Amino acid sequence: MTPRQAVVAEAERVLRQGWQRGDRDGTAYEYTQPSPGRYPWQWYWDSCFAAIAWRRFEPARARAELESLLAAQRSDGFIGHTIFWHRPVTFPRLLFYNLATRTSPQTSTIQPPLLAWAWRIAVGDPAAEPRIGAHMDWLAANRDLEGDGLLWILQPDESGLDASPKFEPVWGRRSNGRLGFPLLVRRNRRLGFDARRVRDAGQPLLCETLVNTMWSLSLQASGRPSATAALVERLWDERRGVFVDEAQPGGLRPDVLTWTAFAPLALPDLPESIGRRLIEEHLLNEHEFLTPVAPPSVAASEPSYEPGGGRGPIRRYWRGPTWINSAWMAWLGLRRLGYEEEASRLADGLIATVAREGLREYYDPRDGGGLGAVDFAWSALIAELADPAESPP
Ligand code: GLC
Repeated sequence: MTPRQAVVAEAERVLRQGWQRGDRDGTAYEYTQPSPGRYPWQWYWDSCFAAIAWRRFEPARARAELESLLAAQRSDGFIGHTIFWHRPVTFPRLLFYNLATRTSPQTSTIQPPLLAWAWRIAVGDPAAEPRIGAHMDWLAANRDLEGDGLLWILQPDESGLDASPKFEPVWGRRSNGRLGFPLLVRRNRRLGFDARRVRDAGQPLLCETLVNTMWSLSLQASGRPSATAALVERLWDERRGVFVDEAQPGGLRPDVLTWTAFAPLALPDLPESIGRRLIEEHLLNEHEFLTPVAPPSVAASEPSYEPGGGRGPIRRYWRGPTWINSAWMAWLGLRRLGYEEEASRLADGLIATVAREGLREYYDPRDGGGLGAVDFAWSALIAELADPAESPP
């Protein structure tokens, strides 16, 4: 078996092993656990990535996975970041989880809204599924606070990038992974996790690049007007040649270089000149994102870069190691813009790593050492890189 075949087979094994089914109060659910033991519940963006991977092995499961997110949908269209299908959170986790009460069936916060895009890749036309339309309408009505088509988040973990150092200039000691994070959760709980109430209370909100990249992908997948022009208008930094988030109140642009600087590479309608700058000045820059196993979640040039994943009593994610979902998004952009050789090199590095280490949550960008949770479902996206024939355009 070649390394490519080996990682595709391993991806299928991990997905099958993580498959959960059950019934909560008459509602049937099926989804892939992000990692056995460590992450037992259904996470929104993990499920979207798992569905994309499942379509290769068993398309019915891709649909069932996303249908379970829709089964959890509130009547107003909202779908939470985590859905607690089979059991509520344990008491200590309540401090860190964005729940209204301990018995809430899901969190009251979002994750990057890629459901419509994932549906398009794995199932079919999202415009034909009214519940996806209702979900998008909820996001637009509740999170597009300035009417320019871009969404705002009220906590770092709504981006999926929990403890990324780029959030510290905004939330300080209340950032995910810092001791004060439970205070942020408590305050936002008091404000009903309502972005307008958070804004009216003068608390921070962030127009974040990855969330809006996923949003634009979902809008386009649904045949709605793209948000890419607004994203460029608001977050593209022409001087540095990267995308930079914007916080309000105050308009702070956090100056920490992380992989979201180039995440919009996944957008098919990104202006080509911007894509080329992202690739040539940053993604292929050995001082920043061209590590042996690329791309790291934080640029190697940053003082906060922790390629070994960090230590300490609190798990701190997204502070340096390489994740497969972000690598896949970069690879989509490399291929679209004709950087075939560079795309293959990036894929070969990751495939060799996953063949050796298995599907881990993330990897050391210096030598590919496997880190974090084991049998991690969305790392099955390695199959996208290993077998590009079936990849989305
Ligand atoms: C961590 C990650 C988040 C992911 C979750 C479950 O919290 O930061 O992105 O959704 O684990 O895998």
